[in-house]
Amino acid sequence: MDFEKKILCIGAGYVGGPTMAVIANKCPQYKVTIVDINPERIAQWNSDDLPIYEPGLAQVVKEARGRNLFFSTEIDKGIRESEIIFVSVNTPTKTFGAGAGMAADLQYWDKTARQIREHSTSDKIIVEKSTLPVRTAQAMERILTVDDNGIRFDVLSNPEFLAEGTAIKDLENPDRVLIGSRETRSGLKAREELVEIYANWIPRERIITSNIWSSELSKLVANAFLAQRISSINSVSAICEKTGADVTEVARAIGMDSRVGDRFLNASVGFGGSCFKKDILNLVYLCRNYDLEEVAKYWEGVVKINDYQKERFVLNMLNTMFNTLAGKKVCILGFAFKADTGDTRESPAIFIANRLAEENAELVITDPNALKNAIKDLDGIDGKVSFEEDPYKAADGCDAIAVMTEWDVYKGLDFERIYQSMTKPAFIFDGRNILDHQKLYHIGFNVFPIGKPALTHFEAE
Ligand SMILES: NC(=O)c1ccc[n+]([C@@H]2O[C@H](COP(=O)([O-])OP(=O)(O)OC[C@H]3O[C@@H](n4cnc5c(N)ncnc54)[C@H](O)[C@@H]3O)[C@@H](O)[C@H]2O)c1
Repeated sequence: MDFEKKILCIGAGYVGGPTMAVIANKCPQYKVTIVDINPERIAQWNSDDLPIYEPGLAQVVKEARGRNLFFSTEIDKGIRESEIIFVSVNTPTKTFGAGAGMAADLQYWDKTARQIREHSTSDKIIVEKSTLPVRTAQAMERILTVDDNGIRFDVLSNPEFLAEGTAIKDLENPDRVLIGSRETRSGLKAREELVEIYANWIPRERIITSNIWSSELSKLVANAFLAQRISSINSVSAICEKTGADVTEVARAIGMDSRVGDRFLNASVGFGGSCFKKDILNLVYLCRNYDLEEVAKYWEGVVKINDYQKERFVLNMLNTMFNTLAGKKVCILGFAFKADTGDTRESPAIFIANRLAEENAELVITDPNALKNAIKDLDGIDGKVSFEEDPYKAADGCDAIAVMTEWDVYKGLDFERIYQSMTKPAFIFDGRNILDHQKLYHIGFNVFPIGKPALTHFEAE
């Protein structure tokens, strides 16, 4: 079959896979190929056991795979054949050298740019899907055009705003799609070509365009603002616990102000995920590079509050469980960084598990979708840890339950049954404020929510 366009995506991860599957699904007239250096990942994409869990993803992949959606390890061939190349390789925080722990590690990105240059035999539009420091497009252009071989490369920025857990919904019906380009004739033409692709299913008014630096910066700023909301309400949760105020009531009161809005105001043990921390640190590093120390410090505060919130959670557990966790059994209820994903990258559960193990607590980890990742994350942890799919078995014989992920299924658990099986006094630390605290208290639990008065059966001092 003759396809209208040939699209390639380099990087078959949490972003590349779902994004391209939706493009292929919505646009059967295009051939969409996704390539990766990791052959196991590609084999999984070609199987019934996809490498990532996202509601609705399996169906979308099943409909398009083999028709106009292909997963492959043949990167060079893919580059030669396509007119538009999305790049969605990972850009983690650097762990070595200058900027370690702050700057984005651009080695995968740089290698990809070189590979594109080497194997291109015709003009290409290159689309930045990965989240990158501002002005990466310029670096990419410099790598791509060093040969002066007559091939034209137009680099566009098209950051991805999907949220894991709702990726398919977000991709099918996004709040907006942002496309940044150089404002030259050929840059604007390339931008229009990408607009045309999205316009197959997204209303034009939601496809916004900008200059390329605004687009690159907008992604970092979007994540910084979202994370800032979480850190703001989490900082308030600490004051609530000291004063008797209830963070849910405060959040409702401020969220009903239409200038503030009510989204992203749930206090919790802290944010996780591969992006928020990494992207804020990336922004902070960028600010320092431009000598904007006050701006850097302001955004760094968002990450600091998040670290503080996680540490506070552990210290609260330690203090309330009579200042020792040694030999006590704790059930970690949920390990994914949020509900409806199996992703555990930067999950607060990793930090909490490690800190509890340092206190010599014995841990039982349970999660409906993230146990495989949890086992990898806790490989080498210094302490006694086991993994159990069934939450009832996981809580059996435990002194405490720490809720780490807001899985819906946890709200419906039979806590009466769980209480009966636990060591007494039994504690629940609800790191997501998802449970019915009064009900748990009446069952017999000592209940410690975030940002609300604790409910305990101990006599007041
Ligand atoms: N995960 C999210 O929710 C999310 C959301 C928006 C943006 N982003 C950004 O998108 C980018 C990708 O994130 P992700 O979560 O999909 O990462 P990921 O680690 O899941 O996937 C990246 C993939 O790229 C592959 N890869 C690396 N170098 C390669 C190369 N030279 N050639 C071919 N493949 C290569 C890796 O093997 C991996 O499978 C990052 O920049 C991230 O910040 C992520």
